[in-house]
Amino acid sequence: MKSPFSIALLVAAASSAVPLASSLPVATRDLLDAYDYIIIGGGPGGMVTANRLSEDSSKTVLLIEAGPLHKYEKEIMIPRWQILGALDLSYQWGTLTTPQQELALNRPVILNQGKLLGGGASLNFMVWGRGTPTEYDTWEELGNPGWGWKGLLPYFKKSEHFTPPRQSQVDEFRITYDPECHGTGGPIQNGYSHYNYPQNRNFQDAMASLGFSHTAEPMCNSLGYHMSLHSIDDKNQSRSDPRTAYYDPIFGEKGTPRPNIHVLVEHLVTKILTETVNGVVRATGVEYAASAKSPVQRVLVNREVIVSGGSLQTPKLLQLSGIGQKSVLDKLGIKTVVDLPGVGANLHDHAAAPSLGVVKPGVPSLVDITLNPKLDKEQGDLYYASREGRWTESGDSLAFLPWYNITTLSRKEADAVIATTTVEESLKYLAPDTHPDVREGYKAIVERVHRGHVAGTIAAEETIWFMGGVEMLSTLMNPLSRGTVRPVSRDPWVPAAVDPRYLSHPADLDFIVEGVRLIRRLIKTDPMKEIGHTEVLPGPLVLDVGDALKAYVRTSLLTAWHPTGTSAMLPRRLGGVVDPELKVYGTSNLRVVDASIMPQHPSAHTMSTTYAIAEKAADIIKAAAAAASP
Ligand SMILES: Cc1cc2nc3c(=O)[nH]c(=O)nc-3n(C[C@H](O)[C@H](O)[C@H](O)COP(=O)(O)OP(=O)(O)OC[C@H]3O[C@@H](n4cnc5c(N)ncnc54)[C@H](O)[C@@H]3O)c2cc1C
Ligand SMILES: *[C@@H]1O[C@H](CO)[C@@H](O)[C@H](O)[C@H]1NC(C)=O
Ligand SMILES: *[C@@H]1O[C@H](CO)[C@@H](O)[C@H](O)[C@H]1NC(C)=O
Repeated sequence: MKSPFSIALLVAAASSAVPLASSLPVATRDLLDAYDYIIIGGGPGGMVTANRLSEDSSKTVLLIEAGPLHKYEKEIMIPRWQILGALDLSYQWGTLTTPQQELALNRPVILNQGKLLGGGASLNFMVWGRGTPTEYDTWEELGNPGWGWKGLLPYFKKSEHFTPPRQSQVDEFRITYDPECHGTGGPIQNGYSHYNYPQNRNFQDAMASLGFSHTAEPMCNSLGYHMSLHSIDDKNQSRSDPRTAYYDPIFGEKGTPRPNIHVLVEHLVTKILTETVNGVVRATGVEYAASAKSPVQRVLVNREVIVSGGSLQTPKLLQLSGIGQKSVLDKLGIKTVVDLPGVGANLHDHAAAPSLGVVKPGVPSLVDITLNPKLDKEQGDLYYASREGRWTESGDSLAFLPWYNITTLSRKEADAVIATTTVEESLKYLAPDTHPDVREGYKAIVERVHRGHVAGTIAAEETIWFMGGVEMLSTLMNPLSRGTVRPVSRDPWVPAAVDPRYLSHPADLDFIVEGVRLIRRLIKTDPMKEIGHTEVLPGPLVLDVGDALKAYVRTSLLTAWHPTGTSAMLPRRLGGVVDPELKVYGTSNLRVVDASIMPQHPSAHTMSTTYAIAEKAADIIKAAAAAASP
């Protein structure tokens, strides 16, 4: 058996390290010289992979996370406060995009990402969803056997434990579900909050009155309108995240410690170390440091390095380590290790335009509880006593809608918008300096997206109904604008330039505008009048004449925080970064496991797909190890 490390040393290191759940899991002085697997980043991608690989006690695993462990703050754990968790900057990369040419005043957009053990999944809005089968099948068609809907469904299920809604919720909100589409027994808890704003029903009646169809089972096809599921623990109505579901069970006092895994938090991996033998690149370890001023340290790897830094950090680290487009690296004086033009290209995100409103007095929303300390205290007491009431509310309703369903344009005008999504047209909107391989990949992707719009099998827009309806978002699905993540310095502590090129493809703007119109139609329906819904933004001054709504979108655009695509799983000749085993082209033992591998974003929020990607990746890596052993 290959057992290069003394288990005694590991046990000693682990036991000296974890007296408290909130203390550092391992101190740098306790690290081994080398591990079988080194995983960079502890979000859904990295923490799942680390947990699964360490199930094999004969393998040693190190996970390095740039951010800290959270302390189960109420802003992280309790739905009532989660919006504040998302806004707390101390757990985030303070990412600001480059100036966006298609936005008013060329303004940049705040595109923060989680920087803590758990990544974005520990501070996001807990929306739990999957895209349409067609969209995952597209991944497979693009050259990735095993990554279609059928290949992924077992891994969606493996990651989760679904608790069905209560009968009262089924009745009130007409929730339907199919047990075949849900996992039970997996680590991430999901289901419905115990309290839901009653006006979720009004939203759904309003959608029905406009002729949209209800989603029979969002976990098997997101199209239509439905109550959203959340990554919430049914028993205590608090967040289920990589920390509670994949870390705590194997660390700390309450867990069953695994002596073969170390987690080092609050350290940035600054470089992946490589050697090239006979033209093949092998990762030999990583460099890391606690701060820009502290010494850079090294740890070596025996088997594989797995990059899970998320869609904005993974491509930065790869490029700083010499893996990227040679002409880009040359400019920074970085020696090219693998010339791989797809790294940091194909960036696409779910941009969104907000519509704000007020509801009549007496209708519950995040506003009334915020303005009423007595009510808030009562509901807080109720929450702590029985995990019921308003503080459990994380809920909202969602609608994922194809273009021809939402548009109110004439058939001719609607067709003209779809005509801009053909390959030939779309190529006009790529950045002129896009590498030819990346262009080829874009062509393959766009061809299928276009087909999906024509067939109505994919969404063009998602309407998010949030906080009791005082905030709604018209969110772009299947974006066609493409941007980049590029380091601007060889210094790993300098943020990369993140340029999503929002709205550079005109169809993206058309889709969001149509979603803004839809929200306006929605709040004028009878079911919405019942709750006295009044529009505040865009507001009565923004009339739907000329390009006024387009101007509103350019002014108000924000992100739904779902960047993907920057280490795309595609054939190498199509600008791919990883192969279907998530191995970086040109390397023998370097993989990417996070949201950045999605070649095209499915019609869903990203988290649950990222968990599934990591569950599948862990099996792939285990199988590779088994095949390599004599
Ligand atoms: C505010 C917000 C709201 C969101 N809302 C939702 C939602 O409601 N539903 C949904 O499905 N999705 C949502 N998302 C998106 C979702 O959280 C992400 O898609 C998901 O977390 C991606 O997982 P990941 O593992 O790819 O990356 P991340 O979650 O970003 O994790 C990457 C981790 O790697 C660490 N890291 C990066 N680089 C390094 C390095 N060099 N060295 C060491 N560590 C490093 C980071 O600190 C981070 O912890 C939201 C995201 C945000 C930010
Ligand atoms: C979209 O329209 C088609 C055709 O009218 C209909 O069958 C389908 O249910 C609609 N989809 C949604 C999500 O409303
Ligand atoms: C809820 O329960 C889960 C599972 O036992 C646990 O991990 C989590 O920390 C709990 N949350 C709170 C806020 O107590």
